[in-house]
Amino acid sequence: SIAYLNGVFLALDEPALPIEERGHQFGDGVYEVIRIYGGKPFMLDEHLDRLYRSAEAIRLQLDSDRAFFQTIIHQLIDRSGLADLDIYLQVTRGIAPRNHTFPNCPVSISMTAKPSRATPVELKENGAAVWMHPDERWLNCHIKSLNLLPNILAKQVAADNDCLEAVLVRDGYVTEGSSSNIYIVEKGAIRTAPLTNQILAGITRIAVKRIAQELDIPFHEQPFTPEELRNADEAFLTSTTLEVMPVVRYHDDTVIGSGKPGTITQALSERLSALTL
Ligand code: PDD
Repeated sequence: SIAYLNGVFLALDEPALPIEERGHQFGDGVYEVIRIYGGKPFMLDEHLDRLYRSAEAIRLQLDSDRAFFQTIIHQLIDRSGLADLDIYLQVTRGIAPRNHTFPNCPVSISMTAKPSRATPVELKENGAAVWMHPDERWLNCHIKSLNLLPNILAKQVAADNDCLEAVLVRDGYVTEGSSSNIYIVEKGAIRTAPLTNQILAGITRIAVKRIAQELDIPFHEQPFTPEELRNADEAFLTSTTLEVMPVVRYHDDTVIGSGKPGTITQALSERLSALTL
């Protein structure tokens, strides 16, 4: 494991930031989680596109270009000596005396490179359980903001109930997971919430949509209700760290579909794994 902070490579546990850093005090920043497979970043262009979009959405002026991020990421991979990594990348509005209005200082750029948090194979093979939770987040969930308190609180309730993920519900519809996108399969078609300010535009979602098109599986971007999730033929989550994770139980007792990972879910999962080889 290794880290990068404002031009310097350092150990992950090295004390590095002054107390008055805006990410630390305000959560005033944005982030990305990027997966490295066999030394190669997966969909890095899409991650950087989203990083610039998030920065712009919070009026954070990011002068570093794509080549800069690509270079640091490749240096982190080399220095780590690892092939399968999670890169965490964070940009904040910098280091300045605490004051809500924007400071006039350089942004802080930090990254960590750590061995990939591989999901237990058993969970992937058998499928996961999810827990419904009210979506208590703000109205700019398309921004990959550092402010994750509602996400953390929801996911902890899920974990307290032995579920892998919290599925967030707003105005009667499922938006997404606390740190993933969610999909159902009905009569051979995939359904997931459309890209609005209510969900994060997942990079794995882009990959799954492309795969669905390739495999001629209809991909409908329409929201669904908790009831429709309960009655779906199949359900699954996606994220950079989970990849395609089958969902087979709801609130620990209701079985979704056959109670086993569905055939379309498995086809998507296999195709995605093939892309990462
Ligand atoms: N989370 N929705 C939310 C709220 C997320 O936090 C994430 C990712 C996703 C899936 O996006 P992607 O496919 O680009 O990983 C959807 C990351 C992994 C995290 O916070 O650790």
